[in-house]
Amino acid sequence: MTKLYSILLVFSLAFTSMSSFADGHGHHSLYERMGGEPVVRAIVDDIWINHGKNPIVKNRFINTNETYLKKLVFEIFAVATGATDVEYTGKDLRDSHIGMNISEMEFNAVVDDIMNAMESNKVSKPHQGEVLAILWATRPAIVNTNVTTDALVK
Ligand code: HEM
Repeated sequence: MTKLYSILLVFSLAFTSMSSFADGHGHHSLYERMGGEPVVRAIVDDIWINHGKNPIVKNRFINTNETYLKKLVFEIFAVATGATDVEYTGKDLRDSHIGMNISEMEFNAVVDDIMNAMESNKVSKPHQGEVLAILWATRPAIVNTNVTTDALVK
């Protein structure tokens, strides 16, 4: 094969494969790389189950409507990881949590439940790390900023 042909072949293969990528720049969203809707819905189901078994937070969710919360958590998980066909229809995170006086310990417990749900759905460690970074960014909107020593040690 001549040099020109091999260069053309490389370019045509590159363009053919690029057209199957989500953003046209050769990158799939984290949402797609994790497996898209079926995997994220399964993760959200397991987050709910894990919360129900987690003594640090289970009482928080006693009066919460399961279907309502799962719908909104799916939406925000999908949008935050780059889904382009999902819209978040819930409240602002700060507005929805501010009245709950959530402690650092509770925030960490919820993050643990989410990480465990990803692990049980076979999400790779690098993808788990990307989600953890997103979760960590939500911390200032969720955790009560006037937390006392009592709230941390009890
Ligand atoms: C880790 C980051 C978190 C994210 C991304 C998150 C996300 C959400 C979303 C999207 C909603 C629905 C908002 C709406 O009503 O429109 C919600 C509601 C709720 N969250 Fe969180 N949350 C987080 C952490 C926590 C923590 C740490 C707790 C307490 C331990 C908590 C307790 C609740 C409760 C009880 C509701 C339901 C309120 C109701 O029944 O109306 N969340 N959360």
